[in-house]
Amino acid sequence: MYRSRPHGNLDDSALSFLSSVYDDRILFYYDILGSQAHVIMLYEVGILTKNELKKILKSTDSLLKDAELLKEFGNSNSEDIHELVESAIIKMTDMESGGKMHTARSRNDQVVLDMRMKVRDDINNICKNLLNVITSLVKRAEENVNSIMPMYTHLQHAQLGVFSHYLLSYAYSLIRDFDRFFELYDRINCSPLGACAIGGSSIDIDRERVSSMLGFSDLIYNSIDATSSRDTLIEFASNCLICMLNICKISEDFIIWSTSEFGFIYLDDKFSSSSSVMPQKKNPDPLEIIRGKTGLASGIFQSISSIIKGLPSGYSRDLQEIKSPLWKISLIVEDSLLITDGIIKTINIDKKRMHKISSESYAISLDIAEQLIKRKEISFRHAHKLVGGLVDCAVKKGNIPLKLLSTDDISQVLSDTDLLKYGITSEEIYFLIKDITPENSINYRITKGSPNKNEQLAMILFLNIKMNEYQKKINLRIDSLKNKINDLKLAVEKNIIDIP
Ligand code: ARG
Repeated sequence: MYRSRPHGNLDDSALSFLSSVYDDRILFYYDILGSQAHVIMLYEVGILTKNELKKILKSTDSLLKDAELLKEFGNSNSEDIHELVESAIIKMTDMESGGKMHTARSRNDQVVLDMRMKVRDDINNICKNLLNVITSLVKRAEENVNSIMPMYTHLQHAQLGVFSHYLLSYAYSLIRDFDRFFELYDRINCSPLGACAIGGSSIDIDRERVSSMLGFSDLIYNSIDATSSRDTLIEFASNCLICMLNICKISEDFIIWSTSEFGFIYLDDKFSSSSSVMPQKKNPDPLEIIRGKTGLASGIFQSISSIIKGLPSGYSRDLQEIKSPLWKISLIVEDSLLITDGIIKTINIDKKRMHKISSESYAISLDIAEQLIKRKEISFRHAHKLVGGLVDCAVKKGNIPLKLLSTDDISQVLSDTDLLKYGITSEEIYFLIKDITPENSINYRITKGSPNKNEQLAMILFLNIKMNEYQKKINLRIDSLKNKINDLKLAVEKNIIDIP
């Protein structure tokens, strides 16, 4: 349809090579809304007659309802959704009316418009999904403030902690993801329409009017910027990747903790796969898929930034190639959040096993060292040496827990480490070790943000307040956008009926 200068049609192979119609099916709805707002504005500024507007709006309306057109996505001779829709409307009306629809508009501003409308919806969906996961994490945390378990660094026992502490740490990272998406929305929610191909138009259109009808909060003012910048979309991909990296950590922790060796948690059967040959198998495949998809997301981010790199200002067709990776990364995040939520809600926790491993663990070593400092006023380095000696002795005696060391073992360590001169007796240390039960290990930890129960409850309270606030602000945003789009639908209906 656009071939006013070139003669004849594109070669079939060239057309199918450059056509984005299939990837554009996701934009169909947004493209129609964008066209409806554009033609209403064209009528208001006197470019279209009432009758022309009515004809165009009527056909956009029936296109939205007509599944037949959707079939053409796989098999049309248009270069993209914009051409497909415009040519359909010209066919449904006539060249005199439909042919005016593209006045003061270009596919270059149109595609940015469609993408921004799609991505702002994606952002709202992701924000909602994030809040669901955070809610589930906090709820499960409330049930597990007393579930003592080892905490790991280098995947080795580090200190004792509680299961809620891990769940809340995930919630904090997802709150930051929410913040990133929520803030990005304002940068995405700006209208490029009216920037035209790159340099605006001599026709006196009303950019603000279109922008407001479509629920945008601002214009992308500069027409070069409007048509050729993709930085906010890269930012969206980057937020998606960061979010996936955060969820991936949850997956990895859960995969490890659900092994027979750890046995801390069990995935619900609904979220477990099996083996074609080993009957005993219960595998954490959904978690592994999240881990795999995080790799995909990282590749997608790389692809998008590589496509953008080195492009000159102004539209280049390369930009078309970022669409399908963007749809993909967005879907990856939405789906992964959904699955993560289901897993968290249904996961079984073996508190007894966690406690047993904790009570035999050397992860109380730092607690013992700190109590020595507090009770005997020796330097941290001395205490570190002494407790290291005790652990070494326990390991040599067959990995026995520290509480099974005898006073003789302890006095041997004391003399080996040259600490007898500080007036510490082996009996004192013997009772000190006995005092560091898993429960006391946690109770004695008093710093802000530690696994101590009061701190767990404080974090839960903070996150509950935060989520309430976030729930309100996301609902407000979604509702106001819904109202705007509804107003546009009403305006379309009114124009179709009213205009004679
Ligand atoms: N299909 C194109 C895209 O997705 C739309 C813009 C095409 N513009 C052009 N001048 N060729 O990016």
